[in-house]
Parts: sequence; C-alpha cells; structure tokens
Amino acid sequence: MRAQDEFEAWSRWKVTDPSRSRIALCSMALFAFITFLVLGWRSELSEKVFGSGSVSFVGKRPSSTLNSANYDWDTLSAFKPVRQDIEGKSTRDLCKAFPQHLLHEIQPVLKTGHGVLETRLRPQLQSVSACLDTLIIISDVDEEFEGRQLIDIIAELPQGFRDNNKLLKAYGYFLQKALADNGTLGTVDPANAGVQGWKLDKFKFLPQVSRAWQLQPEKRWYFFYEADTYVVWDNIFRLLSNFNPDVPLYFGSPSPGHDSWMANGGPDYILSREAVRRLVRDDFGADGAFLGSKLSERWENHVTRNCCGDSVLGWALHEDAKTLLDGLFPMFNPHPLNGIPFSDAYWCQPILSELSRF
Ligand SMILES: *[C@@H]1O[C@H](CO)[C@@H](O)[C@H](O)[C@H]1NC(C)=O
Repeated sequence: MRAQDEFEAWSRWKVTDPSRSRIALCSMALFAFITFLVLGWRSELSEKVFGSGSVSFVGKRPSSTLNSANYDWDTLSAFKPVRQDIEGKSTRDLCKAFPQHLLHEIQPVLKTGHGVLETRLRPQLQSVSACLDTLIIISDVDEEFEGRQLIDIIAELPQGFRDNNKLLKAYGYFLQKALADNGTLGTVDPANAGVQGWKLDKFKFLPQVSRAWQLQPEKRWYFFYEADTYVVWDNIFRLLSNFNPDVPLYFGSPSPGHDSWMANGGPDYILSREAVRRLVRDDFGADGAFLGSKLSERWENHVTRNCCGDSVLGWALHEDAKTLLDGLFPMFNPHPLNGIPFSDAYWCQPILSELSRF
C-alpha cells in the first residue's frame, strides 16, 4: 500500500513566492536534503541510512476525521548562521549555530532501547541529536551512554501493570533488568539471553508522556522521536512558531490506528502542551506531586492487547484529550529517504522528519 494512495487529505505547507528575500522553506528543504546526503556520506552511514524498508499500517481507514489544512507561510530560520561550511568543523563548532533558546519551548524526547545503543543511538547522538542539551532519553534500562542518562521507563509503569504483565516477562524485560541490576548486562548479549527489546517498545509510549511532563512541565511543545529518525530541526522550529501550544494539537505522519488516525511512531510526532496537559491530568496531585503514570494505568488493557504503542497513544489522545491528528504528510514522512516517490504531493514541501533507518 502506497502512502499517497491512502491519504486523501493532508496538510500542505506551501511556498508561493520563493523569490522573496526571506529564506524560502522549499529551498531550505532542498538544502537540508543535500546536507543530509553529504552528512550521511561523511559519517559512512549511507549504506544503512539508504537501506530499503517498508511501511506497515495497523488498521483499516478510521471513521474519525483527519484535520487538514493548507498553510502558506513565510518563516525565518533561527539558526545563526543558516549555512556554513562543514569541512573540518567539529560537532561542537557546528552546534554553535543551533538555536538553543528554542529548547526552552520545545522538549525533545527520544525513545530507544538497550538493544540498539551501538547500532542506532550512538549515530543518532552524534548527528541529529548532537546539539540537544535538554534531551530526555527514554529506554528500557537505567544506564548512562555517551554522557547522557537513559531512563528505564518500563520500571515506571504502575506496579500492578508492570509486575503482572505476562508480555513484559515473555519479552525478557525482567531478565534484562536483573542483568542490569547485578552489573552483568554489559557482559552478555541480551538478545542471546532471550530479550526481545523491540517488543518492549509499545509499553513506552504512554509513560514517556507522563515522564516528559514530570521532568519538564509546561514546555510549549513535546517532540517525540526515535533513534532511527532523521529530523530537520530548522523546519520543525519554523512550523511550530506558527501554532498556539495552548490548544490541543497532535502533529505527525498519519496512519490508520484504532478507529482514529494516529501519528506513525517511526518518523516522529509532536504534542502541544495542552494535549499533554489533558493526557496527564490525573498524574499529579493537588500539591503537584507526581502520582505515577495514571495515563498508562487508564490504557493498560489497550497497551497489552494492541500491537502498537503509537496506535494506543492516538486513541488515548482521541478519547482523553479530544485531540485529532493533524496529518502533516508528507512533511512527517514514513518513507525511508530512498523511497520517497517523486510527485506533486511530495516535492517542494519542507521536510520535517524521515524514518532514516540508521
Ligand atoms: C545476574 O543475574 C542473572 C539473571 O538473574 C543471573 O543469571 C546471573 O547468575 C547473575 N549474575 C551474578 C554474578 O549475580
């Protein structure tokens, strides 16, 4: 199934007059694309990045609607400088151009797992996420990696949910935790020991929302992505500067989920603070104390039964937060970079993120 056949409606963010002196988004997308090619080649990731992949959907076309709109904006880059010669520059040098002040408003939350630290997380932290000092990293083991703290988010599931869950046991979560707790995790290959890390993924979607709010409440935007996502930060910042975070908003690449459109968890998705407020409304006591992820508790049965965490999150947003997905497709793109079809639907729209498959 090709994604452009599936989606009749998507939000289009058009550029009408690229000749203006402001930097046109279209050319920025092209610039970012070329930069990516260059960076991909430089870091010798290209073979992996351009490897083929397929897109899968979890359900039928949902009955609920998908928000759709055309946006016709001129925006300015917050990067200083916008372009620079990258030859011979260190990551630290390059990051001087990154608009750190915008991270006071936008909270990046990266979801990963112990099983892909070397193959995915390391290249992600050395490239796309290298400039993000405020990054929250969600994982399935508490550990330090590349000088950053990884959070075992499954440990934070409500106790009744976590301890009695047959799937968590079957997928090896408790075994992995025991190895981590007695200091032997580094000496064994968890996969050989029977840990199926990728299957733990669906359990992380809801508690990571609670945790992000607990650690960094009231940010204007929460940006969720994965270790194999390529993100064009400049275009993300420009997009968000046009929206009000105090209305419930949910942006991402639309896929049919559990009777509602959901954002495909592969590329990335963004929640406004009002959407998150509604999701975590029971997570905090009157005095502000964190009571645990009541959000996860409410949706425990769905998380256990449904194949996919992004689907449950989409449904929770629909039900708990009365928030519909804004299907910003193709800007949030489920296609791996080498698979983006060439057509009017794709070309000259800003690239926001890609499932890059490091
Ligand atoms: C660490 O925990 C694992 C899993 O429970 C166990 O098989 C192993 O013997 C333990 N190793 C040590 C040194 O305690």
